[in-house]
Amino acid sequence: GFNLRNRSFLTLMDFSPKEIRYLLDLSKELKRAKAAGTEEPRLRRKNIVILFEKDSTRTRCSFEVAALDQGAHVTYLGPTGSQMGKKESIADTARVLGRMYDGIEYRGFDQAIVEELAAYSGVPVWNGLTDADHPTQVLADFLTAAEHLDKPYGQMKFVYVGDGRNNVANALMIGAAKLGMNFRIVSPRELFPAEGLVQKCRDVAALTRGRITITDAVASGVADADVLYTDVWVSMGEPEEVWEQRIRLLRPYQVNEAMLDLTGNDQVIFEHCLPAFHDLKTKIGREIHEKFGLEAMEVTDEVFEGSHSVVFDEAENRMHTIKAVMVATLGE
Ligand code: CP
Ligand code: NVA
Repeated sequence: GFNLRNRSFLTLMDFSPKEIRYLLDLSKELKRAKAAGTEEPRLRRKNIVILFEKDSTRTRCSFEVAALDQGAHVTYLGPTGSQMGKKESIADTARVLGRMYDGIEYRGFDQAIVEELAAYSGVPVWNGLTDADHPTQVLADFLTAAEHLDKPYGQMKFVYVGDGRNNVANALMIGAAKLGMNFRIVSPRELFPAEGLVQKCRDVAALTRGRITITDAVASGVADADVLYTDVWVSMGEPEEVWEQRIRLLRPYQVNEAMLDLTGNDQVIFEHCLPAFHDLKTKIGREIHEKFGLEAMEVTDEVFEGSHSVVFDEAENRMHTIKAVMVATLGE
């Protein structure tokens, strides 16, 4: 097989198409083994620390369950309670944790922080989401697409609608370019991804026969989509004040039944990294609704709960894919 041992997993940009496909294959294998009760622990006696400067349900639980399934021990450090970033620099924290742990997960703000942890710790570092990237998410999204669509990655039309310059949009664009997909970001011009990143992804796509389209036109943008994907309109770490502007810009980009129809594909699947605003069952959901109405949510409840939605398969696949990343970079 492939040797990804001791590699950090900071962005899919650092991985070749073959390495990414290997991680997806390994995820499938580990998922099957767990279901069959034949999973072999390959992280026995490993110690893993997971650092979260932002909240998480899926990513944290995925790292914990995957580690336990594989025989590893986990320490969770949250936004408060450790010295990191307050009394102690990232570089010093990295060198300390690297003396005790075999692998480090980090979720937080700057991509530079996860890079610094990797540079100083001497052990594999896994990016559990930064402001700029979310590479473990993309593995789960692609695995889920493969499970539901009867075609190889290189033939998928993968359309991301919404905030075109957040971590998830960036990460999907990078991954899609690597796997040679027909990938589109459909968003208002104000929220187009950074030109430099788009260019890098187009350079990759030129080698993989992929295609990257960035457009503000909804109808042509979503036409023929195999996967319709969206994410929240305001990401963690962004100030409350941006809500109003985002809603004004993004209202025409809500994923609803009309948009599903515009794809012209009655087999289209709907993906969302979650958490999602689609109903009034959360405090923030109710606040948005009160202030701006139901069109202010990125996806309607109808689509979220409807037959095209695969969002909970996708959430489950976070665990299988994160397990694959740890096993590949740290396993025996
Ligand atoms: N999709 C995702 O990363 O979810 P959490 O914020 O719950 O980890
Ligand atoms: N873009 C979202 C993704 C959450 C998994 C955020 O950063 O909040």
